[in-house]
Amino acid sequence: MLAWYDRHRRTLPWRAPAGRRADPYVVWLSEIMLQQTTVATVGGYFRRFLERWPTVGALADAPIDDVLSAWAGLGYYARARNLHACARTVTEAHDGHFPQGEEDLLALPGIGAYTAAAIRAIAFDQPASAVDGNVERVIARLYAIETPLPDAKTEIKTRAARLVPAERAGDYAQAMMDLGATVCTPRSPRCVICPLMAGCKARKLGLAEELPRRAPK
Ligand code: ADE
Repeated sequence: MLAWYDRHRRTLPWRAPAGRRADPYVVWLSEIMLQQTTVATVGGYFRRFLERWPTVGALADAPIDDVLSAWAGLGYYARARNLHACARTVTEAHDGHFPQGEEDLLALPGIGAYTAAAIRAIAFDQPASAVDGNVERVIARLYAIETPLPDAKTEIKTRAARLVPAERAGDYAQAMMDLGATVCTPRSPRCVICPLMAGCKARKLGLAEELPRRAPK
């Protein structure tokens, strides 16, 4: 996955140049925006936020109404309120520095298991496992997990965590996200160009496009 990432890494506005770690504020801001919003939509919002509020302290000092109006169009306004509350907590309780520990991160407003793991891996290079919908699909296919979602989540998380390398965990996390977004897509996965093809159980069974299954609502 790391060799594939070195060759196919997407340039995205929140990504540090190859070999560099991203600013935790940048990672956090982008990951919150990317929840339930596409990479293409987030781009412009991300740039505008960062230009207007270049640090977590600047965002903390902003009036909430300014943050809400800058957020307009991204939807889910609870995310914007949590964003502002989180910026305040980091500024006031953590001296303007994002904490690195899992528990401290999870205690912040709007930060759940996925976001905490993404920040730990991408900003601090800790071997944390960040499993979003894209990564969930990659893992379900790699191991041909037939249990429907959401019941399969525990098994998927366990399997995903075992694959995280000790080094370059941030690159690995983003490689998995990119693979899910560009190769291991929900429809018509491009298995022939996939770096995991040789070991993919779903591919072997001809099930790639059918997995992950979902329990009927
Ligand atoms: N989706 C969520 N986080 C992402 C990231 N860091 N890179 C690409 N896609 C993502």
